[in-house]
This record gives sequence, structure tokens and C-alpha cells, in this order.
Amino acid sequence: MGEKIAKIGVLTSGGDGPGMNAAIRSVVRTAFFNGLQVDGIMRGYQGLIEDEIVPYNHRSVSNIVNRGGTILKTARSQAFRTIEGQQKAVDVIRRRGIDAVVVIGGDGSYLGANELFTKWHIPTVGIPGTIDNDLFGTDQTIGCNTAINTALDAIDKVRDTANSMERIFVIEVMGNRSGYIAMEVAVGAGAEDVIVPEFKCNYRELCDNIQAGHDKGKISWMIVTSEGAARAHIVADTITNMTGFETRSVVLGHVQRGGTPCGADRILATRLGAVAVDELLKGNYGKAIGLVQDKVNIIPLADARKRDNDIYKDRYNLIRMLR
Ligand code: F6P
Repeated sequence: MGEKIAKIGVLTSGGDGPGMNAAIRSVVRTAFFNGLQVDGIMRGYQGLIEDEIVPYNHRSVSNIVNRGGTILKTARSQAFRTIEGQQKAVDVIRRRGIDAVVVIGGDGSYLGANELFTKWHIPTVGIPGTIDNDLFGTDQTIGCNTAINTALDAIDKVRDTANSMERIFVIEVMGNRSGYIAMEVAVGAGAEDVIVPEFKCNYRELCDNIQAGHDKGKISWMIVTSEGAARAHIVADTITNMTGFETRSVVLGHVQRGGTPCGADRILATRLGAVAVDELLKGNYGKAIGLVQDKVNIIPLADARKRDNDIYKDRYNLIRMLR
């Protein structure tokens, strides 16, 4: 089964994340090391449908290991959700002689990779590339670590003004339906509270704690909120209305998706890229590649899309205990 693969395609899809380029480089160079040809597929599944394919050589991925974003560009393709769109993509794959596709992306990208394999019998593997860290089967997704550090850097700056002006700040971080970034950022920033989709926010309790902190002489208060749980300006207005304390909001937004990937993300991406190609060569298709406790972990793409969020409880308790 595996020996049939002579050419692979690689694409990035969905929200970009720092470290995707390191993953692309690793996939491409591992493929060349094994005597394969590689096509770069531009703009994710949309580029596949539109036949935006670039034949790659060894130099195509030079000097990208340290660059944020993705040289392949990325998109969220609505067309690929339809049978007609998928048929067009499969026609391009067959016409171009692409034997297998490596998909670097998150939840939606894995869904696409799984459909290509199960419905159309195109060999695929998925590499977890999303800042959200919301995939099962890997301790970390590529980009998450850098995004956390970027958010922490910004929050440290906000803390200076929060302290100087003795204000409450609500900082909104990304994460879609996952509170992972918010939880880690809140721990790392020494925030007083965190609001995540996984746990219901009790505003009465939140405001009582702020009041109690104030009574004990606490001069500033930082709350990290995950975009999927509550928008920062709404939380800030609610606190102002309930406590009378001046509260400001900051949305970190897409700044968290950019920048130079940190060491952990580059290393993760590089390791996973190589494993992805190896698995294709072994004929192990329709799989998501991850690292669990530093060991390669391979599970079906369909199982990788839902993450158990109970793991955040210890962080949640820690944040509350240390404030
Ligand atoms: O999936 C990554 C992510 O950055 C999420 O955290 C966020 O909800 C979403 O993408 C934003 O998507 P877009 O860039 O399309 O607005």
C-alpha cells in the first residue's frame, strides 16, 4: 500500500499559527529524503479546488523554520464542505498525480482530511496546527505555545498600567470554543480570575471577590476571558455596573496568531512533520499525528477532533488559590 506513494501534496488550512512553516519544511525535506516529489498546495482546501499547486524543490522551504504564518497561505473553504467542491479537489489531486496529502491545521482541517480519506480514498495524515490546542491525541498543537507567550508579553504590559492607575482589566484571548489559551495565560500572568467556555461564569461571585480584594487593599485586578466564553467589553461593563469600579477591556485578537514561533513550537512542528511522511510511507492513512508525553501518538483523524476539557480544573483552582 505504502510503496505506491511517489508524490505528496502539503497544505495548511484554517487559522494559521506560528510553527506551521517549520512543519511544512519538515514534511517537504523528509519527503525529499525519501525520494518523493512534493507539491505545495496554496490556500488550503480552497487552493486545492482551484488547482493552485506549486511543485516544490529542496530550496522551496529554505529559511522558513523561524518564520510565523504559513508560506502556503491558508483559508477556510466553504466550497470544500460540499460534495461538488470535494469532487473538484479530488479531480485536481488525481490529475496532478498527488498520491497523498499532508494537512496541517485544526479541527475543521482534520474534518476535511478525514473526508478526503474516508469518502474519496485519498491517503491523508493530519498534523495539529492551531493556536487553540483543542485537538485530542496530542499534548500540544503547533502554535499554541507561541500564542501563550505572545499573550503573556502583552498582559505584562497591561499590568504596568493596571497597577499605575489602580484599575481592573479584562483581557480577551483567542481559543474559539476552547479555554486552553485563557487558562494557561491566566496562570502565567498571575491573573486573579479566568472565564472559559468550559465553566459557567458566576458574575456575582466574581464581583464579590473583586470587592473583597479591594477591601484588603488590592489595587488592581486582571481577568482573562476566552473569546468563546464572554467578550471582554461585556465582562468589563458588567463589573463596572455591579461594583462601581472602573474597568477596562483589551482584546488581544489576531496578534496572538503571529510572530516568530518559539522553540517548543518549532521543535514540535519539525518532529511531527517527519512522522507524518513516515506514516504515509508505511501506509498508515487517515491518521492524526501527535506527541503525548513526548512520545509519538497516532490516532484516527475522526477521534482527534474532540478534546476532553476536564484537564483545566487544576489550573482553574490554582488561579483562584493564588490570587
Ligand atoms: O482557530 C484559531 C483561531 O485563531 C481561533 O482561536 C479563533 O476563534 C479563530 O481562529 C479566528 O478566526 P478568523 O481568523 O477566521 O477570524
